[in-house]
Amino acid sequence: MSDAALAAGRAAALRGEIERHNHAYYVLDAPTIPDAEYDKLFRELQALEQQYPELLTADSPTRRVGAAPLKAFPPRVHGVPMLSLNNAFEAAEVEAFDQRVRDGLETIAAVDYAVEPKFDGLAISLTYENGIFTCGATRGDGTTGEEVTPNLRTLRCIPLRLQGAGWPVLIEIRGEVLMYRQAFAELNARQRERGDKEFVNPRNAAAGSLRQLDSRITASRPLSFFAYGVGAGGEQLAVRTHGELMDMLANWGFPVAAERRVVQGAKGLLAYFAEIGDKRPSLPYDIDGVVYKVNKLAAQAQLGFVSRAPRFAIAHKFPAEEALTEVLGIDVQVGRTGAITPVARLKPVFVGGVTVTNATLHNEDEVRRKDVRIGDTVIVRRAGDVIPEVVAIVPEKRPTRDLFGGEPLHPPFAMPTACPECGSAIAKGIDEVVARCTGGLYCPAQRKQALLHFAARRAMDIEGLGGKLVDQLVDAGLVHSPADLYGLTIEKLAGLERMGEKSAQNLVAAIEQSKQTTLARFIFALGIRNVGEATARDLAHHFGQLEALLAADGEALQQVPDVGPVVAASIAAFLAEAHNREIIGRLRAAGVTWPEGEARDSGPRIFTGQTLVLTGTLPTLKRDEAKALIEAAGGKVAGSVSKKTDFVVAGEEAGSKLEKALELGVPVIDEAELLKLLEKGVE
Ligand code: IVH
Repeated sequence: MSDAALAAGRAAALRGEIERHNHAYYVLDAPTIPDAEYDKLFRELQALEQQYPELLTADSPTRRVGAAPLKAFPPRVHGVPMLSLNNAFEAAEVEAFDQRVRDGLETIAAVDYAVEPKFDGLAISLTYENGIFTCGATRGDGTTGEEVTPNLRTLRCIPLRLQGAGWPVLIEIRGEVLMYRQAFAELNARQRERGDKEFVNPRNAAAGSLRQLDSRITASRPLSFFAYGVGAGGEQLAVRTHGELMDMLANWGFPVAAERRVVQGAKGLLAYFAEIGDKRPSLPYDIDGVVYKVNKLAAQAQLGFVSRAPRFAIAHKFPAEEALTEVLGIDVQVGRTGAITPVARLKPVFVGGVTVTNATLHNEDEVRRKDVRIGDTVIVRRAGDVIPEVVAIVPEKRPTRDLFGGEPLHPPFAMPTACPECGSAIAKGIDEVVARCTGGLYCPAQRKQALLHFAARRAMDIEGLGGKLVDQLVDAGLVHSPADLYGLTIEKLAGLERMGEKSAQNLVAAIEQSKQTTLARFIFALGIRNVGEATARDLAHHFGQLEALLAADGEALQQVPDVGPVVAASIAAFLAEAHNREIIGRLRAAGVTWPEGEARDSGPRIFTGQTLVLTGTLPTLKRDEAKALIEAAGGKVAGSVSKKTDFVVAGEEAGSKLEKALELGVPVIDEAELLKLLEKGVE
């Protein structure tokens, strides 16, 4: 078969598949594949049509922006069509876009771009006549949308009457309806309680909520809106740039992105992309990239449009956080405290910038709720550095016993009753979600985790003692408890596979070095359930000496700031175990030591009871160091600014946290002032 014939067949298949996904996504609100997969198919079809222009048919999905409107809502023809944006994923594509813009404008000077987040919601158009909201519609196929005016009226952030002045007789406002992450979590919790179906992600929740025939249901859903442009009537506005337009929309009463800004040239675009990428996890809503628009409206008009998208704007997308793959198996993993976590073993898939082969299923209830089985096709999500998780299955892709549906090939997941590592019983406390292996340190998996925790940088800081080595040491029977580490010799280590003389020497030296520590690190290293770094520090400060801690009962423990009944009970239970006390004794006997008495709490320290927030790059201190200093002075370091924040420590390129602090009137200090305060605390 000729290349052209092959291409024709492939294009027809792609068109059919894309159309099916469009229907499922836009008409039924039931996505069948993640956006990234869809984008891939779409790009492939686009590329084919570019290579073989004769394949571009009148009904190609590349010719339209969305899908046909639902019959149940009245159709609404937009005054000006709602177009789409071309996507860029790589820096080179952004540079090429900037080059095209400069070629189009016949300039070599850096172009001003208005930049803003790309909201991950659904596009809508709001019509105002004489300043009154008269009609709201979804994008539909870009030309005709679905009229959902009563539903949009329920969104409190959409003005029913425009504020200020300067609006023409008729104006279409364009923007995105979305759901904040927090609101989404609460909505899903409510759905779960009622036994209703949960939504896969905030965007689907927003789409499903807006497409309700009964607007009372929409009213009960926490939807938000951001404006990012105008349609019909826009040409009559007295503004010269997109930036001015956004300011005008804000003045009329529309929410607009606080992160919007004007930058210069491709360099400015890429710097903004990096900055928003960093901020992304702390934004209260999902974004899937950023949007760059030539700022000058006259320049926009000069550049114009090509097929379905403007030449003056582009979406720079983050790597997809969701992807489709297949479940090869479901195992359980045993954590440091015995917690049993079901884990899906996956056919390797590239998602969130890395190849993922395992994804957590959290706990038994979650696997049941999502009904994940071997052979299922699942949506996997990896956002930022968060552990990859299985979001949902694609029910129609479940393998069945025969071709015509019927019995699923694999049974539902069942939690093992015995620990796969040590054979001990797995038990779940009443009202507990997490099942645990009851083997304690008898269980090699728990032992390995406990050793890794003990050796961690923030605990005993034994350099070079990582996962593989711990596995070897435990499997060879050389180490049963942390105390055994101090009995290791170069000769004993030499017997291990792939262990050279030099590595053995280094490890023994690192173990030796770890003997000089602090009481707080030692307590943390013990791995007592519910005792994190901060609690370990509080305990060290309060008791001053290990013996005092060992002698404390539940009541004495609760005298420690921030130690409540649950934490006190965990500590008491740990100390009640004879073998834990024995290990502590052996560690001390091996020479683990710390400056005695130094840590004893001598009353409140400079930041006792205060919360500080770090933002931007400090001139000399690393983030970790600043945090440690503040905590050593009794303070807490939080991730976000609120009315309760006592100080914000701002360095270079401080962003939204600094803005928030100024807005709330929270005192802002720099590194020098922080160090001065800390010095005062020592006096
Ligand atoms: S401007 C001519 N700005 O992304 C099209 N779009 O594929 C102008 N979106 O349909 C769109 N955030 O739903 C624009 N800040 C933003 C946006 C944004 C999200 C969506 C919008 C649009 C799609 C583009």
